[in-house]
Amino acid sequence: MPFCTFEGIEGSGKSTQAARFAARFGARALLTREPGGTELGRGVRELLLTKHPHPVAAAAESLLFFADRAQHVSERLRPALAAGQVVICDRYVESSLAYQGYGRGLDLDALQRIAAFATGGLRPDLILLLDLPVEAGLSRARSRAGGPDRLEAEDVAFHERVRAGYHAMAAADPARWRVVDATGGEDEVAARVAAAAGEWPR
Ligand code: TMP
Repeated sequence: MPFCTFEGIEGSGKSTQAARFAARFGARALLTREPGGTELGRGVRELLLTKHPHPVAAAAESLLFFADRAQHVSERLRPALAAGQVVICDRYVESSLAYQGYGRGLDLDALQRIAAFATGGLRPDLILLLDLPVEAGLSRARSRAGGPDRLEAEDVAFHERVRAGYHAMAAADPARWRVVDATGGEDEVAARVAAAAGEWPR
């Protein structure tokens, strides 16, 4: 099934690149994102990204991301795939593994089991990792209006663990992952994305 995801740290430019990539497929594409790809999910996104007076437990955080995802899979991803659309999603399960697993230190096997439960086993066939140094990504992300959200405000060491986690996952599964250099201008990166995707979807 033609299901592709964009992954990366804060400020990697993946949302822009996902939109440009989706434009290649015209009306055949569903471009969507997590968290917040459904009405329910927009509420969950708000809960996840705003700052709270008490620390958010890592398990609570991960389950909220998976609640958003379960709804998204059921309401949008599966119906689109069943209708023959090409689905392009800005973040998916691998974000949970990178941020809550490698970043927060939650057990990766437990997260994989929750992922199977939440998604019914729906996995992307292509994962484009937009990769750049943490400092470069964070300075891009933090210069956006509104200031850093709750996750962007985590320290550099957290984001380094997330990036290293992405690299570990990409190295372990080269059939699905493509690592794309996300430094440089938007057009340059778009050309690298196109080259990395090749003839997808076959
Ligand atoms: P965004 O900035 O790409 O919209 O993603 C929102 C934030 O949520 C970003 O800091 C990454 C984080 N995130 C997780 O920590 N786990 C997840 O499963 C997902 C989908 C996002």
